[in-house]
Amino acid sequence: MKTYLITGGCGFIGSNFVRYILSNEKECRIVNLDKLTYAGNPKNLSDVDNDDRYIFVHGDICDEKVVDEIFSDYHPDIVFNFAAESHVDRSIGKPDDFIRADMFGVFTLLEAMKLHGGELFVQISTDEVYGSIEKGEFSETDPLMPSNPYSASKAGGDRLAYSYYVTYKLPVIVTRASNNYGPFQYPEKLIPLFITNALEDQPLPLYGDGKNVRDWLYVEDHCSALHFIMTNGVLGETYNIGGGNEMQNIEITRLILDHLSKPEGLIRFVEDRKGHDQRYALSINKLRQLGWEPKHDFTDGLRTTIDWYVSNNNWWRKIKSGEFREYYEQTYNLKVV
Ligand code: NAD
Ligand code: DAU
Repeated sequence: MKTYLITGGCGFIGSNFVRYILSNEKECRIVNLDKLTYAGNPKNLSDVDNDDRYIFVHGDICDEKVVDEIFSDYHPDIVFNFAAESHVDRSIGKPDDFIRADMFGVFTLLEAMKLHGGELFVQISTDEVYGSIEKGEFSETDPLMPSNPYSASKAGGDRLAYSYYVTYKLPVIVTRASNNYGPFQYPEKLIPLFITNALEDQPLPLYGDGKNVRDWLYVEDHCSALHFIMTNGVLGETYNIGGGNEMQNIEITRLILDHLSKPEGLIRFVEDRKGHDQRYALSINKLRQLGWEPKHDFTDGLRTTIDWYVSNNNWWRKIKSGEFREYYEQTYNLKVV
């Protein structure tokens, strides 16, 4: 039986991944270490709270003592490090927490595995570490050119993990996924923000000309890729995980409005994000050759996601009336009414 340490399991991708492992592995134990920042919500896992295989520890990945206790008490075989500050706009306003969690937090976890041992350490990195690309796609050997404090911190954690493989022979794999979407995503990110604003007949603040491009990956596909890499990936390697769905932000905005039968008049073009990366695009040939492919088509995935937010309005309304409200009003200079 494997013991997993999943950090950041109360966030968007982490909670989907905890559920994915519990549904796909009968015998396992999962320790979820989460600091419960504004983005961490224990309700994201309320359905598995009573599962004997699941243990929640409230703590910070930067806290050497807590991390050491977890390794001593539970001896995790496999670590998936999702814990991070994850929102680019917040990193532009206040980079400190990003540098701490996304770099120093990785260091603390790597040190613990170096001391206690373990089978595999998966560092969840991001396609943003490559920076923007005008044409073509990034492959895993391309140079890193991160261009905002979030992606620069993630690039630090990404390469630090690799350095522990080379220097100390720690069993590390690094993954770089594109933009995820799906249930339980905090409503500060483009897709859930626009769905929930549209449901409330609030303006949808589109940055710049709305023509920036992202590649969209349904969160369940991300989870299946990580599970696949765990058994088929090669130690010391990096894997891109993409959805093969490149879209301009304006196109996504129109799809959301159309699905909800809301007017285009809700679109509000606002000041561009500082240093806004124009386009992200990934080659997933390396993972495809190993035998993994994304399964979800974007139109279907987006419809499922919109339907989830429609059916779970208690979940997001609670968030939007709390800490989020002040953040949103300051960022966009738009009043929530
Ligand atoms: P999220 O912001 O929804 O969740 C982050 C979680 O980490 C929260 O539960 C938070 O409480 C926890 N956390 C933050 N700092 C912590 C700390 N110091 N100690 C312990 N817990 C801490 O993020 P997400 O969108 O689910 O992203 C998860 C991971 O995937 C991140 O590492 C992110 O960089 C990476 N990633 C995200 C995307 C995406 O599109 N969302 C794409 C590629 C990679
Ligand atoms: O590419 C992977 C990354 O995707 C992850 O590493 C990050 O954790 C995740 O937050 C995401 O970063 P982005 O900056 O691409 O995602 P976000 O949802 O913030 O923005 C997507 C695009 O939409 C981007 O071009 C900015 C634009 N945007 C975003 C918001 C929140 C708007 O036009 N208006 C908005 O209000």
